Amino acid sequence: MYRIIEKQDLTPAITLMKVDAPAIARKAQAGQFIILRLHDQAERIPLTIADYNRDEGTITIVFQIVGKSTEELATLKQGDSILNFAGPLGVPSEIEDYGTVVCIGGGCGVAPIYPITRALHQAGNRVISIVGARCVDMCFFEPEMRSVSDELHVVTDDGTKGRKGLVTDPLEDILKSGSKIDLVIAVGPVPMMSAVAKLTKTYGVKTIVSLNPIMVDGTGMCGCCRVSVGGTTKFACVDGPDFDAHQVDFEELTKRQRTYKKEEQVASEHYHQCACGKE
Ligand code: FES
Repeated sequence: MYRIIEKQDLTPAITLMKVDAPAIARKAQAGQFIILRLHDQAERIPLTIADYNRDEGTITIVFQIVGKSTEELATLKQGDSILNFAGPLGVPSEIEDYGTVVCIGGGCGVAPIYPITRALHQAGNRVISIVGARCVDMCFFEPEMRSVSDELHVVTDDGTKGRKGLVTDPLEDILKSGSKIDLVIAVGPVPMMSAVAKLTKTYGVKTIVSLNPIMVDGTGMCGCCRVSVGGTTKFACVDGPDFDAHQVDFEELTKRQRTYKKEEQVASEHYHQCACGKE
């Protein structure tokens, strides 16, 4: 069992949990993920590691309530335990001194981009960060991102914080300005990563995205997380989650993400009925 030693509501829909998992914390690196299971009847939830503390032996996860399982996870309190917590999984992000890098986090993707940004900053890069959210109430980790960035841009869809617009707006300004950008790395919703890839391709700037397709086992056996990259099939759980953004087939990924929409809705409705004692 893995004890939750801290719980924090970052926004009304986004929750942070610090979990006691010393064996994972010892090995975790930026860009990797864990898969958790609340109890023996629960589905597996893959979540990118938002932070780790080797001294404390903790792993921080940040998640948004998007369906039945994340809703159930959010009901846990500090002191409660999670049955299974497996990791670190996936290939760590490639961290080196590239020169100037732009780190982009959108929505819940701000959490996983944070340890990557920190590692790139520590490696000596000049880091320009862009964080995006729907509105001010969905913004989080701004101080954390500011502390590991040489420059930070905040955008919201409705303009309630920072600049009104999308993450691609400040990105386009930076690329247009002619400053030499050696690498762009983006984590967030698929449409956001796709838009970033499209833009940077026109400027010929190497871009990495961290993909979060549907996963089951997280060890390369089930094939659920397959993505087409450069015309070949890759498994995000063992070959990724980081891939060359200009090689990813985002159209196919978008379709695959919708595969279980109906089942997810049914599970969510059933969960609410049970929670209300109507079953
Ligand atoms: S999650 Fe099963 S192969 Fe990747």
